[in-house]
Amino acid sequence: MSRAIGSRYTVENSSKLTEYHDAVKGVIDSDEMQKLKEYSHHHCMTRFQHCLNVSYYSYLLCRKLGFNAEQAARAGLLHDLYEDCPKCTRSHLVNHPEKALENALGSFKLTKVEQDIILKHMWPIRRGLPKYPESMVVMMTDKYIALVEYIFYLRKTAQGAKSRRAAQKTAKQ
Ligand SMILES: [Fe+2]
Ligand SMILES: [Fe+2]
Repeated sequence: MSRAIGSRYTVENSSKLTEYHDAVKGVIDSDEMQKLKEYSHHHCMTRFQHCLNVSYYSYLLCRKLGFNAEQAARAGLLHDLYEDCPKCTRSHLVNHPEKALENALGSFKLTKVEQDIILKHMWPIRRGLPKYPESMVVMMTDKYIALVEYIFYLRKTAQGAKSRRAAQKTAKQ
């Protein structure tokens, strides 16, 4: 079962998310997306989870703003569709959108908007301003979600250190 960070509802069986599930069906359950569960992202979660977070919150925002939420949801899921990379270098940050788009086009039929969303999500690190409002939304949501995920990571690290200190203290007594 898949659930975006901070959401109470699972994508596959919650009646609250029927429309979202309809939009991403065929993508979220594909082998290509499921493979992303093997890769870690932003230290604390899988790349699948990161893509789901970006997709789900981009969908909600686009729906609220009257943009095409379905395309934002699909492309949000696919925006980081690439194989694991050992180091997060600048060249990786700049080049991975092309790789993700190439991979996505190899498996799915994408609209121009969906292609733009994937290709431009790393602006301004990668040149090329997002062309459509949906691309703007996904580009900003990706950054916001990355920040939230990093805060999660810091909290988890701090909690781990606290537990270790408590265990050491208990062992000494
Ligand atoms: Fe990315
Ligand atoms: Fe991302």
